Amino acid sequence: MNLILLGPPGAGKGTQAQRLVERFRIVQISTGDMLRAAVKAGTALGTQAKAIMEAGELVPDELMVALIAERIEAPDCANGFILDGFPRTVAQAAALDEMLAERGLVLDRVVAIEVDEEALIERIVGRFSCADCGAGYHERFNLPATEGVCDQCGSTNFTRRADDNRETMIARLAAYREQTAPIIPHYEAGGRFARVDGGGDIDAITADVVAALER
Ligand code: AP5
Ligand code: MG
Ligand code: ZN
Repeated sequence: MNLILLGPPGAGKGTQAQRLVERFRIVQISTGDMLRAAVKAGTALGTQAKAIMEAGELVPDELMVALIAERIEAPDCANGFILDGFPRTVAQAAALDEMLAERGLVLDRVVAIEVDEEALIERIVGRFSCADCGAGYHERFNLPATEGVCDQCGSTNFTRRADDNRETMIARLAAYREQTAPIIPHYEAGGRFARVDGGGDIDAITADVVAALER
């Protein structure tokens, strides 16, 4: 199963993708995570992306398309993948259509997670994650079962993203509205599109996403 999780920053794409990975045995392809790894490793891509990400803007399409074209070829994608954070522009959506067609792959579902903007800001400013395994948490909405200890791996090291502040978040929301939301009609027209209310409780949203996938 190949799918896209669409949605504004903080909608819960990463949170829901982590759950779908376990349930369907498919891989999560988060372009944001890939870029953050590149920044951390100091690669050429990371050097180019760092300031753009900290400003809440989008990394150039050609870099992102090349990254995904290579990633979906990896053997671990054979059982399917969840695109989280890609495509993000009309040009990326067109490039994805082309690369899937070339490889004889189909998109089984495009799920758009919808949340209002005020709630998104609150989610972003309270987000933190495990520094060792990447599991995502929130100060108010999604704490580890034991305070200070990662549920997934037991680590006590946590980290916050450089772009998770109110100012950068406002720029990220604008980028979403202006450059990413315009891809929705493309997928709506193609069918296999579902909207999920991302405003409720995390488990209830997972159930809605799974229902949309199995429909
Ligand atoms: P990326 O990493 O993709 O960030 P984003 O799209 O801004 O989305 P987030 O990761 O912030 O949100 P999410 O939807 O995953 O939410 P999460 O599940 O963590 O991209 C970062 C940057 O990289 C971009 O700005 C851009 O510069 C660059 N980039 C990446 N891809 C690119 C591309 N294709 N083209 C160009 N540039 C690209 O949840 C958020 C928080 O809320 C967490 O704390 C979570 O615990 C909590 N939470 C989740 N669900 C709920 C719930 N239901 N109720 C309460 N709290 C919840
Ligand atoms: Mg994410
Ligand atoms: Zn962990």
